[in-house]
Amino acid sequence: MLGVRPGILEGSANLPDTDMAKSHGSGTPDTSKLARLGKDVVIEAGVLIFHPENIEIGDDVYIGHNTILKGYYKNKMVIGNGVWIGQQCFFHSAGGIKIGRNVGIGPAVKIITSHHDGEDTSKPILHTPIVFRAVVIEDDVDIGTSAVILPGVTVGRGAQVGAGAVVCEDVEPYAIVGGVPARVIRGRRT
Ligand SMILES: CC(C)(COP(=O)(O)OP(=O)(O)OC[C@H]1O[C@@H](n2cnc3c(N)ncnc32)[C@H](O)[C@@H]1OP(=O)(O)O)[C@@H](O)C(=O)NCCC(=O)NCCS
Repeated sequence: MLGVRPGILEGSANLPDTDMAKSHGSGTPDTSKLARLGKDVVIEAGVLIFHPENIEIGDDVYIGHNTILKGYYKNKMVIGNGVWIGQQCFFHSAGGIKIGRNVGIGPAVKIITSHHDGEDTSKPILHTPIVFRAVVIEDDVDIGTSAVILPGVTVGRGAQVGAGAVVCEDVEPYAIVGGVPARVIRGRRT
């Protein structure tokens, strides 16, 4: 495409003069740059990894095809031992992500850890300050396909998140939640 730098879409030419319209790079995994790479890790074809220096991957981890681990220049993404991550997930660790041990994450799950505060209405929301809030997924959690985990949420140990849930609040240990916004369906122990 004539006149278009790699990583810049033609339609972004009208953006205000900021430095955001620049490529983040290819994301082609360079496992030698990860902060930690455990034993027996499977990284399938099409996985993209950004800021590997801020990403720790434990032992016996599976990362499905076309998942994107979007590390950030600060904060960490920590993936514990025995975690299974399905295809086409998107984890953005701007605010930090901690995933415990033996967590199952279905295909197309998204974990988001930042948002724009939008307080100054004289600007596009996109140009207002970013708020960073970590997400914690405790041990033995199971997250259904296409669920979205929003900034600041802790999903308690052994909880189950239903397919398609949008999780805005903390989830109690061993709860089953589902829906938009996610609400408790029942407890696994009650
Ligand atoms: C949430 C889930 C675990 C609940 O399973 P369950 O305990 O067998 O639940 P039930 O089918 O008995 O349904 C219980 C209630 O929850 C509702 N419900 C079930 N799944 C739901 C979901 N994903 N979102 C919203 N509500 C849901 C049902 O409609 C039912 O409501 P009702 O009592 O008003 O009729 C399951 O439905 C689910 O979403 N699993 C995710 C599967 C998945 O994505 N796997 C990934 C494979 S890699």
